[in-house]
Amino acid sequence: MPSFISLSIFWLSAFLVLLTTTEQSLAQSAYADHQYTSEDIEAGSRVYIAECALCHQRSGSGVDGVDLRLGQFRRALSDNDLREVITTGVSNGRMPGLDLRQDELDGIVAYIRAGFDPSGIAVKVGDAARGQMLFEGEGQCSTCHRVHGRGPYLAPDLSDIGVVRTAAALQRTLLEPSSALLPINRPVRAVTRDGQTIQGRRLNEDTYTVQLIDSEERLRSLIKSDLVEYEVSETPTMEPTTLSSDEVADLIGYLLTLGGLR
Ligand code: HEC
Ligand code: HEC
Repeated sequence: MPSFISLSIFWLSAFLVLLTTTEQSLAQSAYADHQYTSEDIEAGSRVYIAECALCHQRSGSGVDGVDLRLGQFRRALSDNDLREVITTGVSNGRMPGLDLRQDELDGIVAYIRAGFDPSGIAVKVGDAARGQMLFEGEGQCSTCHRVHGRGPYLAPDLSDIGVVRTAAALQRTLLEPSSALLPINRPVRAVTRDGQTIQGRRLNEDTYTVQLIDSEERLRSLIKSDLVEYEVSETPTMEPTTLSSDEVADLIGYLLTLGGLR
């Protein structure tokens, strides 16, 4: 083999190695400050056994109405609320406040958010009220999404999202919407025989017809044999968020409150 070819193969593979490692570390760094590390979770499990298991049990369900492993509290709690409950106590001392170091507090919160699973993912959960302001304001989520009867039909209704998705799934959707694209929920574009172009979001499709919500928010049912063009887009209409990691945590905190009691 002429040496210049093997040399270029060498450079090519070196370049590919470089490319994949940068891609991997990019993907990791996109998530890194959005969640607790496995060391946090591990450390938290030890503090939990020492300080909390006496009342809450190792299972996390030892106190009535509270299941720490499942993230079921009496009210929706952000990570900061959890730290506050632990340091100041609740119910007039039935749970006394504990004087813990910051890293111990972070560890316990991480362990609770990971569902008591040391190899699990513990996503940061911020303040629901701030999250709602972002949702309706700067984040522009309500320009596409509907919640409790308010907002357009351009994107899935999120009124129940807090009971059907975990914090980790919500985080993935916000950081990488393409990973969460449901096959049916795709943007579609159709051109009818009389030259009308219809764009919208597919709700249902069978061999002969397709149902969609068009850009004027009307429910449409189209007969495929009447169409001269019909395209289903593979790219989601939702962009990866440009909000900061704290703001994403606040949004997750808000989304988790949607849909009944938590
Ligand atoms: C002495 C017993 C005791 C210990 C120790 C204890 N708790 Fe509790 N905890 C309780 C009781 C009792 C409640 C329920 C209070 C109520 O009825 O509102 C509670 C409630 C909670 C809640 C739910 C608050 C809410 O608003 O829903 C959380 C979260 C919690 N505990 C976390 C912890 C963690 C984490 C630790 C360890 C750092 C811990 N607790 C240690 C007794 C204890
Ligand atoms: C341009 C319109 C648009 C905007 C703006 C938008 N989304 Fe979306 N979003 C969508 C669409 C479309 C989907 C459905 C993707 C799919 O399932 O195919 C979606 C999906 C989601 C889902 C997943 C739903 C599920 O069932 O898992 C969540 C959660 C979500 N969006 C939250 C948000 C939040 C929070 C914001 C604001 C930061 C936002 N979206 C902004 C269009 C939008």
